[in-house]
Amino acid sequence: MAVAFTSFHLWLFCCLAVVSMAKAQDPDQFIYSNGFLHANLQLDGGAKIHSNGLLQLTNSSRLLKAHAFYPSPINFNTFSSSARSLSFSTNFVINIVPESEQASGHGVAFVISQSSDFSQASAIQYLGLVNLSTNGNPSNQFFAVEFDTILSIDMDDIDDNHVGIDLNGVKSNRQVTAEYFSNEENKNLSLSLKSGHSIQVWIVYDGQQELLNVTLAPENIPKPNRPLLSTSIELSDILMDNMYVGFSAATGSIESCSHYILGWSFNRSGEAQSLEMSKLPKLPKNDGRRNTVRLILIIAAVVLLLILIGTAYVYRRKKYEEVHEDWEKEYGPHRFSYKTLYIATKGFKDKQLLGSGGFGKVYKGTLPCTKEQIAVKKVSHESNQGMKEFVSEIVSMGRLRHKNLVRLLGYCRRKKELLLVYDHMENGSLDRFLFSVEKQTLTWFQRFQIIKGVASALLYLHEEGEQVVLHRDIKASNVLLDSDLNGRLGDFGLARLYDRDGDPQTTRLVGTLGYLDPELTRTGKATKTADMFAFGAFLLEVSCGRKPFDPDKPPQEIFLVDIVKRFWTRDAIIDAVDSRLQGNYVVEEMEKVLKLGLLCSNPKPDSRPTIKEVVQYLEGNASLPDIPIETAQNIPSSILETFSQSTEINICIENNLASDSVIPFPSSVGQGLSLNSMSSINSVLHIGR
Ligand SMILES: *[C@@H]1O[C@H](CO)[C@@H](O)[C@H](O)[C@H]1NC(C)=O
Ligand SMILES: *[C@@H]1O[C@H](CO)[C@@H](O)[C@H](O)[C@H]1NC(C)=O
Ligand SMILES: *[C@@H]1O[C@H](CO)[C@@H](O)[C@H](O)[C@H]1NC(C)=O
Ligand SMILES: *[C@@H]1O[C@H](CO)[C@@H](O)[C@H](O)[C@H]1NC(C)=O
Ligand SMILES: *[C@@H]1O[C@H](CO)[C@@H](O)[C@H](O)[C@H]1NC(C)=O
Repeated sequence: MAVAFTSFHLWLFCCLAVVSMAKAQDPDQFIYSNGFLHANLQLDGGAKIHSNGLLQLTNSSRLLKAHAFYPSPINFNTFSSSARSLSFSTNFVINIVPESEQASGHGVAFVISQSSDFSQASAIQYLGLVNLSTNGNPSNQFFAVEFDTILSIDMDDIDDNHVGIDLNGVKSNRQVTAEYFSNEENKNLSLSLKSGHSIQVWIVYDGQQELLNVTLAPENIPKPNRPLLSTSIELSDILMDNMYVGFSAATGSIESCSHYILGWSFNRSGEAQSLEMSKLPKLPKNDGRRNTVRLILIIAAVVLLLILIGTAYVYRRKKYEEVHEDWEKEYGPHRFSYKTLYIATKGFKDKQLLGSGGFGKVYKGTLPCTKEQIAVKKVSHESNQGMKEFVSEIVSMGRLRHKNLVRLLGYCRRKKELLLVYDHMENGSLDRFLFSVEKQTLTWFQRFQIIKGVASALLYLHEEGEQVVLHRDIKASNVLLDSDLNGRLGDFGLARLYDRDGDPQTTRLVGTLGYLDPELTRTGKATKTADMFAFGAFLLEVSCGRKPFDPDKPPQEIFLVDIVKRFWTRDAIIDAVDSRLQGNYVVEEMEKVLKLGLLCSNPKPDSRPTIKEVVQYLEGNASLPDIPIETAQNIPSSILETFSQSTEINICIENNLASDSVIPFPSSVGQGLSLNSMSSINSVLHIGR
C-alpha cells in the first residue's frame, strides 16, 4: 500500500513536473515589435530573416512555399477559472509585393496547427498548408486565416483579393473581399492585399462566445472600429495542446509575389499589444520587379526628359547656329548675332520677304533693340575659302559712307550662309518703278536725279574711297529708292563672293545679260570699265523704260543698245525715249543721257568714259565727245533663246587651255553652249545659277 502510495505520488510528481515544465515552455503571450532578428523562429522553405529583422516568407521564385512558426508550441488545453479557454488575440503586419505590376500569387496565411511539418504540402493555391489529397482532411487539424491574392476556382474563391477562414483545408468556411472600415469616413474602403504596402491585421477569438473577428487596415491607420469579418466559429476540435502558431505562404506557378511579415504579437491572456509601424523593419528598397519596373519607368522618364531638353537645346543651338572664327573678333561691332536677325525678321518668314535676286533672298526686319528698319540679305555660299578676305571687304564696305549708297550695317555668318544687314529702303528697287505696269512711273526729273545719284555713288566707289571698289552688278534692280525717291546703289562688291567659290580652274562671271561687258567674258577680270559698261546699260534703261536685254523681242530688238544705236544713226536718238514720259523731259538732258549710254556701251573698254568724266558730262561741266561708229557688240542672238527664261546669270568659264585658239576659253562642258561669233572666241559658257 505504502509502496503503491509512493509510486502514485511519484507518478503524480512526474505528471506535475511535466506539466510545470510544459507550462514554463508555454508562454501565452509574446511580441516581436521590431523584427524577428533573435526570434529563433522555426523556418522552412523560402523563409528567411533579413539582417534588419524582416521576416521574408517567400521571394518571387515560382512554386515556393515557406513557413515560420513560433519556436515553442502553445497549449490551448489549459483552464482559465472554470472553463477551458480557447481565446486568443494576435496582431501582425504583412506585406505582399508582386514581382510585376499585374503579377499575383498566391498568398499568405496565419496558422494555428497541431503540426509544424508541412513538407508534404503544395505551393500555389494550397498556400503551403495541404496538398490535393489532404485538402480538408480533419486529421490536418489546423485553423488559418488566409490572405489570398489569386482567384482559384477549385477553391471556390470569390475574387483575387480576399480574406478567408480555413479549417483543415484551403476551401474557406467564410471569405470576404479585403477592405477596411474607415473610422474617419465611416465607411468601408477598398484595400489591395498585394499593393506592396504594409497591412495591419488584428485577429481576435473569443472562446466563450466562439466569435472570431478579423480586422484589416493599411499602415498608419488606427485600428478600425468595425472588423472586416466577425463570424462565429467553433475551434474546440482544433485548438488542443501543443499547437504551433505562425505563418505559411506559397507562390504561384506562373506569377508570384514576395511575402513578408514585419512584426507580430500574440496573447492568450488579453488583447495582443499593438505594433508601432515606425519600429518595424523596412522592406528592401529594390525588392520585387514592381520596384524595378518603377525604377525603370522613372529612369526612362528622366532619360526621355533629358533627351527632350537635349533636343530642344540642340534644336535651339542649331536654329541660331553661327560660324565664328578667331579672325572675326576684330569685326565684332559689325557682326550681328543670328538670333537678333532671326527675331528681327520674325524667323525669316515669307511675309517678310522683300524680294529675291541673284545673290539670295532679302527679308525686311526691325532690329529688336533699336527698332531700326533693316533689310537682311541671305546669301548662300558653299565654301569657307577666302571668307576672311571677303568679310574684311564687307566690313570695309560697311565703312563706306555715301548718300547714294545703301548702307551696309553688318553681317552674320552661318554654315553655308552669309547674312548681310542693310538699311531698309522704303520704296524698294528702281526696276519696279520703271517696268511695272501697276506702279506709277517716275518723272524725268526724278529719273535724272536718280541717275546723277547713282553716278556719284559709283564715282565714290571707283575714285574717292580709300580703295577702289568695283560694283560688278550695276542695274536698275540694284538701285534702291529711299523715302524721298533718292537712288541708292546697293549690293556693291557682292560679286566678289563668287570669285572665292569653287576651283581655281574656272573663273566665274557674275552679272546680268545686257549689262555684262563682252570683254569680261573674254578675260574674266572685273574692271572699272566693265562697271561702266553696265552703267551705260543702266542709263539707257532708265531713259527708255525698257530692260537692256529682252529675249521676248524680235532679234534686232533684243538688245536695247542696238535700238538706241539705230535711232542715233538715223539722227533721231530722242525717239528711243520711254513713251510713258509722254514727252515730259528736258531734251538736252535726255540726249546727253542716251548718248552717254551709248558711249559706255562701247565694246572697246578703253574707249568708254570713266565715271569721273560721266559725272562731269552729267553736271554739264564738259561737252560730250563723238560717239564712235562701231556698234556695241553684245552676245549674239543665236544663244539668246537659251537664256530666254532667265536674264540674271552667273557664268562660269572653263580655263582649260585648248588647241586652236589664242584665247584660253575653249571646249564644251555639260549643257554648255557654243559662242561662235563672240569677239572671235570659241568659248563655252555654262549657266551656273
Ligand atoms: C528565392 O528563395 C529560394 C529559396 O530560398 C532560393 O533558392 C532562390 O534563389 C531565391 N530566389 C531569389 C531570386 O532570390
Ligand atoms: C499529400 O500529403 C500526404 C501526407 O501529408 C502524402 O502522403 C501525400 O503523398 C501527399 N500527396 C501529394 C500529391 O503530394
Ligand atoms: C463594411 O463591411 C462589413 C464587413 O464586410 C459589412 O458588414 C458592413 O455592412 C460594411 N459597411 C458598409 C457601410 O458598407
Ligand atoms: C467582434 O466584432 C463584433 C462586431 O463589431 C463586436 O460586437 C465584438 O465585440 C467584437 N469582439 C471582440 C472580441 O473584439
Ligand atoms: C497580453 O494581455 C495582457 C492583459 O491585457 C497585457 O498586460 C499584456 O501586455 C499582453 N501581452 C502582449 C504580448 O500582448
